Amino acid sequence: MALFKLDDVCCFLGNRNNGKMVLKNVNLSIEDEAVVAVTGPSGAGKSTLLNVLCGLEKIQSGTILFDGIDIGVLSENKRADLRLKQFGFVFQAFNLIPSLSVKDNIVLPAAMCRAKIEPEYYRSVLEMLGISDLTGKLPSQISGGEMQRVAIARAIINHPKVVFADEPTGNLDSENGTRVFELLLRCAKEFKQTLIFATHDISKAQLANVHVEVFDGVVKVDEN
Ligand SMILES: Nc1ncnc2c1ncn2[C@@H]1O[C@H](COP(=O)(O)OP(=O)(O)O)[C@@H](O)[C@H]1O
Ligand SMILES: [Mg+2]
Repeated sequence: MALFKLDDVCCFLGNRNNGKMVLKNVNLSIEDEAVVAVTGPSGAGKSTLLNVLCGLEKIQSGTILFDGIDIGVLSENKRADLRLKQFGFVFQAFNLIPSLSVKDNIVLPAAMCRAKIEPEYYRSVLEMLGISDLTGKLPSQISGGEMQRVAIARAIINHPKVVFADEPTGNLDSENGTRVFELLLRCAKEFKQTLIFATHDISKAQLANVHVEVFDGVVKVDEN
């Protein structure tokens, strides 16, 4: 069974006077532990596709199964719970909480669902991301590349099944962007996560197993 299965999914955003069909009849299967690149021009619908997959955005018609569960019919609370426990998120703008230390930012998703953190897992994540020495600092005291590596640690602290990364290197210079991207791939492999990332950069899409191209809300899928 595919981890995600989308059948004829349409997503309409906005209102009747000023809205548009942002995703048009999307059919897509994503296998467990796949690495999926979502590419397309600005405004094509990449972020909306990610938001629909994680249950943040409601759909107009069609069905989305995650692990056999129809997420379209879940209550807001159940979908929020799914996001907290099964999904991790990495954003273009890092979205760390400025008043919390690096450590407190990383453990926040676990604290929110009162999950225990295994010290060995915590250490191995920080080590892999090269941020073990930063835990006492505030986000304002570290670089952009470091902030995004902290954000990756936060995204994976709850052992998510899926990591969503929306233009994760969009705010980084190319050297830091390359490093962050390699680490995302390495973490997904090491911790057996499905990784779904949006990017403008076609060269990054070539490193994925599945390449989802979005043009004006229409999706085309290539298996690499
Ligand atoms: N709340 C909204 N109301 C109306 N249109 C929206 C809304 N949010 C996004 N859109 C439109 O949906 C399209 C796709 O947006 P998005 O998924 O953010 O694209 P991408 O991530 O590929 O740049 C864009 O044309 C955008 O203007
Ligand atoms: Mg976007």
